Formats: sequence, structure tokens, C-alpha cells
Amino acid sequence: QNTQNYCLVIFGAKGDLARRKLLPALYHLEKLKKLNNHFRIIGVARATWNKHDYLLIVKKSLQHFLNEKINDLIWKNLSVRFDFCNLDVTELHQFSQLKKIICNTNSLIINYFATPSNLFEPICAGLTSIQLNSMNSRIIIEKPIGNSLYTSNLINEKIGQYFQESQIFRIDHYLGKETLLNLPYLRFSNSILYNIWNKENIDHIQITLSEKVGIEGRWNYFNQTGQIRDMVQNHLLQILTIITMSQPNNLTADNIRNEKVKILKSLRYMENQNFNKNIVIGQYKHGLFNGKILPGYTQENKITECSNIETFVAIKMFIDNMQWKNVPFYVRTGKRLSKKSSKIVLVFKKPINNLFNHVAQLSNKLIIRIEPNEGFELEIFNKVPQVTHKNILFNTKFNFSYDQSFPNYKLIGAYERLLLECINGNQSLFVRRDEIEESWKWIDSIILLLKNNNIILHKYQSGSNGPSSAKDLIEVDNRFWI
Ligand code: BG6
Repeated sequence: QNTQNYCLVIFGAKGDLARRKLLPALYHLEKLKKLNNHFRIIGVARATWNKHDYLLIVKKSLQHFLNEKINDLIWKNLSVRFDFCNLDVTELHQFSQLKKIICNTNSLIINYFATPSNLFEPICAGLTSIQLNSMNSRIIIEKPIGNSLYTSNLINEKIGQYFQESQIFRIDHYLGKETLLNLPYLRFSNSILYNIWNKENIDHIQITLSEKVGIEGRWNYFNQTGQIRDMVQNHLLQILTIITMSQPNNLTADNIRNEKVKILKSLRYMENQNFNKNIVIGQYKHGLFNGKILPGYTQENKITECSNIETFVAIKMFIDNMQWKNVPFYVRTGKRLSKKSSKIVLVFKKPINNLFNHVAQLSNKLIIRIEPNEGFELEIFNKVPQVTHKNILFNTKFNFSYDQSFPNYKLIGAYERLLLECINGNQSLFVRRDEIEESWKWIDSIILLLKNNNIILHKYQSGSNGPSSAKDLIEVDNRFWI
């Protein structure tokens, strides 16, 4: 049994992120017995609550956001870990209050900044004022880290004045998803994949992050952000780097992150003249969804507002390095689409001197399902039995799914995994500062081109597959969304 004392301090304990994601993750970790007896949790917020009041909020949040009934024993074990600290983080002197509650400052202290980023600096200053920036202390920060290269640099600079890079854990929860964790293993341990994972053999790659949800009441955040900054700058580009990075020398955090940065530095920057052929943006309008009429994006706030913010984007992009030169990457992500589906599709080139040229669409595919039904399938062709004269082929799917292969093992959630990795000090699943900067550079260039080129914002019906122009983006190249 590990006897180290741990203390998780959640700044922004009243907020959406803490209630929706962190508390359920802590419940699951308790259920899986992953928290040792010396693990404490301190919620920090501006509220005149005592510990009892806070526990009521915690329980209520769990009832709402946990997809299962709260088990009495698990709750009993979890609830004794909690404390609450009423603290206005902009008042430096109030931090002494937190120090009193933590009392054992020799614990490993994980400070989770589940707050807007304008509070990151005051929190860092406050923690420093009570000597909680020592090497025993780590901080976890959430996206969005800024909304441009400039603002993210400001934030990183400020945090860097108080904490060293080895203490900073920038979360991108997609990096905690099992299928993405598997990718380096899949790619680098299987010679049949390793040897064909390049421009010589791959025709193109697609990444789809399609969401069923809308903006979930987050108008103020989303209307200044949009889908490009909300999903592409972080999750989508992270996925892209993991599928395309070269093999690192070993799996240490820095080696992996060095390879990912090389990819981000090789992203091709688009130019005005071809920009509108390489991007499609859209915004959902009202529609019939799961039998209900749902409001369009502009009716999501209390009053109907005008907004040019995109809730859908599809982009054709390239990586200008030896391995990927001229291989197109078609990526798309949107809210209020017909289904939740996150997947990567590798479409392989057809054989040269193909005997079966008359059979359309003769391309092998590797479809990696991030979710749902985590796993992957490899599509390959076989002859239809008995038919010989026409060389008729059919497409066979070799399927791997975690559910089938590990029926007794429930995949651990992304936040659960990342909290554990932070406790263990493993930074490889967190984003390094230069990764954030390189991805913002590219995203800034896209946002600027969008402004300068008056790109049409296509309206699409809630519950559909997005604007039809997104089909054209890929179909002009004689390729199809999978
Ligand atoms: C978050 C975005 O980072 O990821 C949300 O801010 C989005 O807008 C969410 O809905 C998607 O995450 P997941 O794990 O549900 O695909």
C-alpha cells in the first residue's frame, strides 16, 4: 500500500468542469480503489459553505453527472476525503486559509485549475505566497490555454514565473482515451503496419470528431471560441500528431513530445488563393433531434443573437515532411450532428497494376474507433465464394474491440487516467508548452484567413451530418468521407 500523502486541490470547485468531469472521475477512482487512504480532496471556491454544505453539492453533482446510481459504501469512503476552502483567489492574503486546511505541506499537492484562465496567475501567486510552488506541488491546467498564440504565451509566461515546466500538466482529455494511448503500440510494434505507415502506401487519412451535443449552455465561452479553437486546436491536432509522428527513441515524455512538435512545425500553411477550397465552416440551425425540436445555435442564449461563430468545420490539410509529403488529411468536427463518433480512417493506395480495376473503391482501410465501441477494424478484400468468372470481390472486416477482447475489463475514463498519470508524474500524456504554441500558430493563420476571405458560414440542420459542402471538399478529389 502506497503511504504517500496526496492532496488534490480543486480551484473552481463550483464550476461546470469540476462538477461534470472531475467529481465523477474521483468517484470512479474510489470505486476502482485507486486512491490510497492518504488521498484528500479540497474544493476551493468563493462561497460561505462549510464542509457539510460542500458535500451536499458534491453529492448532487454526482447524482446529476454520474451515469450510475451512487453506491453508499463508495460514497462513504469518498466523502471523508473532502474538505472545503472559501477563498477568493484574487485576494492573496486569503491563501493562508488554504494552507491551514492542507496542514501537511509535505504531501504531494496537485492543484487543479478548473477556472477561467484569467485566474491562473492569481492562483499561482497565491500558491507561491504559501510556499506551495515547491517541487512537491504540481498544477493541472485545462484548455483553453488562451485563444491565440499571443494570449496563450501570456498565460504560459505568467505560470512559468511560478512553476517549472516539469510541474505543469496541461490537460487534453483526448490523450487519456484508451484508443489514442494504444496508437504508438499499434503503429510501432506491428511490422505490417509500421512498414506501410507512410506516403508510399497511404492515399489519405480522415479524422472525424462528430458530436451529438450542442454547446451545453456554454454560450459565453463558445461564442468567443468556435469549433476550430474548441476542438481543432487541441484534440484534433493532438490526434493528428499521434498518428503521424515518427517513432520516438523511447516512450519518455520528452521524446514523444519532441516528435509531436516536429509534426506541428511541418503543418502546411494555407494561402489566400486556395483557402476556400480547403475549408468549410457551418453553424447548426434548429432541427428535429431524437424526436425533439432543438433550437439553432443562435437561439442557444436566452435571447436570439446574431453570430458568425462556427459549430462545424472541415479542413483539408497537409504535413510537409518526408513521410507525409502530399498525403491529404481531411478532418472534420461539429456539434449537433447525427451521432457521437470519433474516428481515424487510413485509406490505403490501390495496388499498382491492379487486376481488379473494374471494382470501384478498391482501397483497404484501417478504421480506428476512438469512441464509441473503442477498437479498430481493417477492411480487406476477398473473393465471393463460388463466383469465379467475374472476379467479384467482397470487403471483409477484421475487427478488434476492447469490449469483446476484454469483456471483464471496463475501460478507465480519460479524466480518471490523467489524474492518475499526474499523480505518478508522467507528463507524456500532457501537452508541452511548445506543442501549444505551434498549434496556435497554425490555428491563428486559419482564423486570419477566415476573416480575410469572407468564407460562407453554411447553416446545417441539427441532427444532420453537417453542411453538404463538406462532402464537396473531399469529393472534388474523388474521395469520400467514411
Ligand atoms: C471539450 C470541448 O474539450 O471536448 C467540448 O470543450 C466538447 O465542446 C468536448 O464537447 C468533447 O469531448 P468528448 O470526450 O465528449 O469527445
